[in-house]
Amino acid sequence: MASCYRVPLRVAQADARRLVRRLTRRGFLVSAARGAAPAHARVVAPSGSGPLGVDISLTGACNASCSYCAYAPQMCSRRDLPTAEWLAFFAELGRLPTRNVTLSGGEVFLRPDLWDLIDGIVEHGLRYSILTNGSRLDRRTVQRFDESRRRVRLDSIQVSLDGSTARVHERTRGAGTFGPAVRALRLLHDAGLPVTCRVTVNRHNVGDLANIAGFLLDNVGLRSFGTNEATPQGRGFVNRDEVTLRPEQRVQAMRTLSALARRYPGRVLAMAGPLAQARVFAAMRAARAGRAAAPPGAGRLTACGCVFARMAVLHDGAMVPCSLLPHLHMGRINRDSVSRVWRGHRYLQALRNRRAIALARVPGCETCEWARVCNGGCPALACELTGHTNRANPLDCYRLFLQETRGVAR
Ligand SMILES: C[S@@+](CC[C@H](N)C(=O)[O-])C[C@H]1O[C@@H](n2cnc3c(N)ncnc32)[C@H](O)[C@@H]1O
Ligand code: SF4
Ligand code: SF4
Repeated sequence: MASCYRVPLRVAQADARRLVRRLTRRGFLVSAARGAAPAHARVVAPSGSGPLGVDISLTGACNASCSYCAYAPQMCSRRDLPTAEWLAFFAELGRLPTRNVTLSGGEVFLRPDLWDLIDGIVEHGLRYSILTNGSRLDRRTVQRFDESRRRVRLDSIQVSLDGSTARVHERTRGAGTFGPAVRALRLLHDAGLPVTCRVTVNRHNVGDLANIAGFLLDNVGLRSFGTNEATPQGRGFVNRDEVTLRPEQRVQAMRTLSALARRYPGRVLAMAGPLAQARVFAAMRAARAGRAAAPPGAGRLTACGCVFARMAVLHDGAMVPCSLLPHLHMGRINRDSVSRVWRGHRYLQALRNRRAIALARVPGCETCEWARVCNGGCPALACELTGHTNRANPLDCYRLFLQETRGVAR
């Protein structure tokens, strides 16, 4: 940090100590030395007066029509909020412990008031990230990050890219989308902005992953890129037979991405999808065989800590626990208090309380030989796909994966 911000080491250390003291005072950090605290509370206490981060869908408008878009049904059925509503919401977040917002959609650069909204975010002391398809990013747009404090408050800007060629990328993201996405990546990178890229692994690009990595890391020169996987939600559900990975393709993606992660250390990232899954499954095998300690939280529904730190708002102002759970309405911004929703809404509480549930008691997992070392996978997808909060996510289930890939060499 000291070298990054060009300040003496002792100044950075004093700042870090001060930050830890403030976070502890406000209840966001609990000392790990207090052995009685549950695993999740050692990181973030859910009783803080507001989320640390909010994922915001600013618009339901989009100029693309990706064949797996999970947000597509929401885009048709909800209306965008006007500028003033978002600005009032950012003012409220500025009074809470919230540190950053992630702006997504739809396509945020289609909002004509985007820069006013970003200035509102900055004005209220928040940091921000952007998710974009890159189509509207030309030289002039990129220069606008240099106005006001927009650049220094920007944590990251992520462009989606699904292939190393137009042929592969446009199979899922539509004709004419590859060139603009690549131009956006290059312009942002050349401008020194914190650009990153997301590759959504699907049936059409699984054979192109090595080329994509080479293109992004060696050719464009990105520091890193993230990967996930096209899930059967929204349009991804409708088109699941065309886009979601087949079992043998999942194995192929796991192998390729794991090899790429070894070849480019620290530069191929994954919070979900085949690479993340490969790592979780390897840790489960090692723990069950006694070669390693069980992963933290193993044996209970503990996979994701998001509900202790973040929540989401859809483009009509509906507050939801996570953008993957658009039907769990907890209130509406500027009508209901964020703080009250954050502290006490039953949906958030139910999702947080999952952590106490042993997998041995979860329907479908009772007799599983992996239950002791499993964490149940993504809670949002578990709810969305099974209709029950306290279930495991079938897409992250190792026993199911083994059944489906029997006969596929691993
Ligand atoms: C909903 S989009 C919104 C931002 C912007 N329009 C874009 O495409 O980057 C945000 C990210 O979610 C990903 N995404 C959309 N539907 C998905 C699905 N069913 N499974 C996994 N990722 C998905 C997109 O590929 C994109 O990287
Ligand atoms: S994934 Fe992004 S670009 Fe594609 S349709 Fe959805 S919102 Fe639009
Ligand atoms: S059935 Fe699947 S989700 Fe349940 S404990 Fe076993 S591996 Fe985990």
